This record gives sequence, C-alpha cells and structure tokens, in this order.
Amino acid sequence: MTNQPIIAPSLLSADFANLAAEVKRLETAGTDWFHFDVMDGHFVKNITFGPPLIKSLRAQSKKFFDVHLMIENYHDYIDAFAAAGSDQITVHCEAPAKQDLATAFKKITALGKKCGIAVKPATALSVVENILPQLDLLIVMSVEPGFGGQGFIPESYAKITEASKLVRGTKTIVEVDGGVNGDNAKSICAAFTVGGAPLNQLSLVAGNYIMGDGRHDQYQSRIATLKNL
Ligand code: DX5
Ligand code: ZN
Repeated sequence: MTNQPIIAPSLLSADFANLAAEVKRLETAGTDWFHFDVMDGHFVKNITFGPPLIKSLRAQSKKFFDVHLMIENYHDYIDAFAAAGSDQITVHCEAPAKQDLATAFKKITALGKKCGIAVKPATALSVVENILPQLDLLIVMSVEPGFGGQGFIPESYAKITEASKLVRGTKTIVEVDGGVNGDNAKSICAAFTVGGAPLNQLSLVAGNYIMGDGRHDQYQSRIATLKNL
C-alpha cells in the first residue's frame, strides 16, 4: 500500500456540457480515478446520470471508473453499469433492494468488476462489518448523499478511524466522499492513519474542491494538494 491517497474527482461537479474535455483535463492534471455519482431521484432527492453517460466517457479514458450508485433496486442495473465500462460498482447498504448485498457483490465480481459498499453518515459501520472482507471498497460518506458542494461532517473523522481499523488486514480500500478539500484532507489522512503508516489504501473523492469554480488551470495543483499530504 502506498502512503499517498488515491484521488477520485467526482464528475458531479464537472462541466456537463463539456464532459469529454473535463475528463481529458483531469487526466492531464494527474487524477487516479474518476468518481461517478449516480442518483435516481428515489434513494436521494436528485437525478444525475446513468450507463449511457459512462459508456460515452469510457472511450475518452483508460483510467479507473469508480461508480457510486445512490439508487434503489441496484440489482436491476448492475449489468448495465458493468457493460457501460465501470471498473468498480459501489452500492448503499441503506438502499431498498429485492435481493441481499451478498447477491449483488457476487454478481459484480462475476462480471469482473470491483465491488464496494457505501454507508451514509448516520449508518453505523457495524452494519457492514461482516461483509467488509469480501469487498474492494468501503465508501464512508462524509456528507448526506445527494449533492456535491456540501460541508464535510466533522463526526466523519472518528468514523474514518473506525473504518481504518475495520479493514486492517484486508484488501479493502476506504474512500471518503463528501466535502473533501485542501483544508481538511490532511486531517482526514491523519484520522485514517491510526498508529503510524496507513496499512490500507485511502481514496479521496473531491468534486467541488477541484472543479467547483471552473478553474481548469487549478485542477493539477488541487489534485497535487490532496495527493501530497
Ligand atoms: C454526494 C456525492 C458527493 C460528491 C463529492 O452524494 O457523492 O459527495 O461525490 O462532492 P463534493 O466533493 O463536491 O463534496
Ligand atoms: Zn460519491
């Protein structure tokens, strides 16, 4: 595991009228992953995009597509998101679904994709503790899911530390999603790096911090700020 966090810009904050250009800019600026915040208007009160958009951007980049499903009945859509070119598919443990999480993970893995679980701020990590060892990713939401540009919830620091301890000894990456910026990234990393060097890998999602003001010329320095903590 490296000490540098993975940086996963959320395209939720990108210029939707020029997404191919934004992907190229972020790639040139040194991004590791692309984070896709998929919302269905039911699980969260917002609607963003689906498999067609991911399919069209797949042709623009070979970088890792980290797809965060904030949707109900995610079982019905796993095939479509996998076929669209997702590299990793994460579902919410709180989302109403017809089948259980284990069935979803089995399906995602069988399609050759990485699988993850996301937990909302109010959800205790104990809810997902038993299934964590099977997973490639645990998303700790540090804002209420639904919108970019919200403020980081300070109680998330303790949860990040708890997540770091829970995944110890496994391959599971911990991803912090929501309100991450140049001011709190160091504290997030410190909360993750409990008792010395981090043993697992940390991933930081950032949308508004990197792209919120449309300053393309700042993408590289902002990604570097998050990476070189
Ligand atoms: C919330 C989204 C956001 C997004 C990051 O549902 O998941 O957390 O990825 O948004 P920023 O970085 O703008 O807070
Ligand atoms: Zn997200």
